[in-house]
Amino acid sequence: MTETDTKQENVASEKADFIPGPVLLIGPPGVGKGTQAKLLMAEFGIPQISTGDLLREQRKQRTPLGLAADDLIRQGLLVADEIVNAMVAERLRHADCGRGYVLDGFPRTLAQATWLDQHLASHEGSCPVVVISLRVDRDDLLKRITGRRVCPDGHIYNIYSQPPARAGVCDADGKRLEQRKDDTEEVFESRMRVFDEETARVIPHYRGQGRFAEVDGFQPVEAVTTAIRTSLQGFRMGSERPRVPAGK
Ligand code: AP5
Repeated sequence: MTETDTKQENVASEKADFIPGPVLLIGPPGVGKGTQAKLLMAEFGIPQISTGDLLREQRKQRTPLGLAADDLIRQGLLVADEIVNAMVAERLRHADCGRGYVLDGFPRTLAQATWLDQHLASHEGSCPVVVISLRVDRDDLLKRITGRRVCPDGHIYNIYSQPPARAGVCDADGKRLEQRKDDTEEVFESRMRVFDEETARVIPHYRGQGRFAEVDGFQPVEAVTTAIRTSLQGFRMGSERPRVPAGK
């Protein structure tokens, strides 16, 4: 278990009341999935599971998977479904996922979505997922991507819209901010192509299942969070029994 996992499990144990169940955040690169997932994690006390972060963690540890994934990430291409599915399956086994979780950046192919459907169906007591699809215009996405700066512990900034108090330094922990290797205009084009060809097809898959909402991501961060919260309340469920049955 990584240090980040441990921190998330501590957060999970501190929160109690309203539990949204599994929440999937879907959308193109830079739309705000990570930003919103962290806010939902803090609000609901459920962990954020970002497949991008899990892969970057593998890279940091220089595992064979991490090194192979690094090559694909730098080109803006997807890591193989079986590898990512196995990584998610392993993460979902952790105790902190029992009351719900936010999946950030997964599933992003139809094969991953089908795998997740089957995986959850095979686990007794699993709540149906709520899917939030975030939208922002392409030009604004590029600005968000090239302006993003991150700290090694995952705090997210933007030199245009969410700058740190001191340039290049994380407000939360004083660590130096960096630009992700895949946050260039060239790699963004490749990531967008992959989104259009693969991930966009996941949206109709979930829209058809009913527990789906589209949220305009081109609003201030807090307004996006409010819109997501409102959607989640519409699909509100208890910790044991969903109020809205799957498929309705
Ligand atoms: P991943 O890390 O998941 O990248 P992504 O999906 O492209 O998404 P991003 O992290 O770029 O953006 P985000 O939507 O989280 O936006 P953020 O909140 O940071 O994946 C990286 C790579 O890993 C993939 O390309 C692939 O190779 C591999 N991979 C990952 N998952 C995989 C999978 N399932 N299968 C196969 N391969 C996989 O915000 C962006 C910027 O905008 C920030 O600067 C932020 O401050 C700013 N911002 C956020 N919200 C707002 C707002 N409301 N107003 C103004 N600015 C805002």
